[in-house]
Amino acid sequence: MEAAAPRCDRTLAWTALRGHWQAHGRDFDLREAFARDPGRFEAFSFAAPELFADLSKNLIDQAGLRLLLELARECRLEARRDAMLAGEPVNATEGRAVLHTALRAPRGQGPFSEDVHRVLDAMLAYAEQVRDTAASGIRHVVNIGIGGSDLGPQMVVPALDAFVHPGITLHFVSNVDGHDIAPLLRRLKPEETLFIVASKTFTTQETMANAQVAREWFLAQGGSDIAKHFVATTTNVEAAAAFGIDTTFGFWDWVGGRYSLWSAIGLPIAIAIGSEHFRALLAGAHAMDRHFATEPLERNLPVLLGLLDVWYRNFFGCASRSVAPYHQGLKRLPAYLQQLEMESNGKRVDLDGEPLPYGTSPVVWGEPGTNGQHAYFQMLHQGSDLIPVEFIAVRRPTHRHPDLHVKLLANCLAQSQALMLGKSTQEALHEKAPTAAQDIDPLTLARHRTFPGNRPSTTLLLEQLTPASLGALVALYEHRVFTSGALWGINSFDQWGVELGKALCNALLPRFASGDTAGLDPSTAALLRRLTGTGS
Ligand code: F6P
Repeated sequence: MEAAAPRCDRTLAWTALRGHWQAHGRDFDLREAFARDPGRFEAFSFAAPELFADLSKNLIDQAGLRLLLELARECRLEARRDAMLAGEPVNATEGRAVLHTALRAPRGQGPFSEDVHRVLDAMLAYAEQVRDTAASGIRHVVNIGIGGSDLGPQMVVPALDAFVHPGITLHFVSNVDGHDIAPLLRRLKPEETLFIVASKTFTTQETMANAQVAREWFLAQGGSDIAKHFVATTTNVEAAAAFGIDTTFGFWDWVGGRYSLWSAIGLPIAIAIGSEHFRALLAGAHAMDRHFATEPLERNLPVLLGLLDVWYRNFFGCASRSVAPYHQGLKRLPAYLQQLEMESNGKRVDLDGEPLPYGTSPVVWGEPGTNGQHAYFQMLHQGSDLIPVEFIAVRRPTHRHPDLHVKLLANCLAQSQALMLGKSTQEALHEKAPTAAQDIDPLTLARHRTFPGNRPSTTLLLEQLTPASLGALVALYEHRVFTSGALWGINSFDQWGVELGKALCNALLPRFASGDTAGLDPSTAALLRRLTGTGS
């Protein structure tokens, strides 16, 4: 890439956006916007591979969107995107390329294609062997990994439940808390179990400790063939061999942990859904990669979503975004997106290490609908913060209960409608509220039952939740995170913020044996004494 791209706040578009927000943004009213412009839905709806996006319920007008696109151009978003896709070392603090897109490029088309497809073919062949349960004897597959070596497979496997091998149960152990692995081991038999030790570095404390426990359990239960029952997915093949694992599927330092489900880290997915469906997952993601790489910014869905993220974060001051997948299979999607977005963009300095004068990653959170409705939606509708919501709806279910599905979809639409329309105090005054106190003043009650409305949401529609559509959806999020990170001028691909806690944990560990609290701050020292039973 040529000269350094300017940071978002040092552009003309940023100043123009500030003015536009003051004049037309902070008081923007969705209800008026729809009344004024009958073409608003069409103007703000977009198609991308495998999905359709309705952005019309967002607090923005055409002029605002044009300014955001101007911002993207001034920040040279396209050049940055092309640099990433070409394998330039855009992860500057680690001196690495960022090429998860190469993992889903068809054979012969992406960087490192030969390496990628060699490992992919070998991994898929292995997955098929495991799936032949009559021959393999494997009934349970336990993925031991954490963060990016856990959340992707843990999210995808239930999402694609309709495609999962009926004779194999997938389990995920991540936490160093023994309450994670212990109850699982009680239910397993060594001869039916395959452990996948998944770790990019093969040094992560939690994963190594759980792998050790699994191996000890396996031997103690009379298991003998470690080579058959343990497999590793890692970039550190030597460390896996030193652990005693012969079968290893590798990947490369240009695959970030939170972008790794497409690599050998996807082995549990491949075992669950089979090689054909795994290839469809990759193909769906690749289709979204092409969209991101080639579609003009005006119709480029990940770019548009990333721009809206900047608009809400930096102009409206929204500190969080809620994700509501109306599909139970996507129950782990919010957790997956937390790592993807918050580990990528939760940064406070720019590429030069200068402190940023504006907010970056919002808190991403959520639950599947309709469960969230009965928990925290109260706050989305009537709370004091503006929280953009993202609804994900799937038109065709894979189950045979159409009555349930239509209720689910109606709930999804009703929520975005309610957020936008709200309810005035006048409307509330004219309603009956059967559960209200008999003696309450009607106006007071109506105020409690008022919904301000004008709360923004985006709705993503999928025809069906398939390997291809899920691949496209996840790639959409990856590129959206890239977009906002590029505009914010941060490195979205390092994660130094996880290091300090790891180092301090390693320093504290021996103190649990010795009880030594010398040199610790008073709070940590007192807590340590309580936990080790050496003081009160
Ligand atoms: O928590 C930090 C982190 O490095 C994540 O980025 C990564 O996904 C996770 O730990 C697991 O790392 P590894 O795959 O090396 O075990």
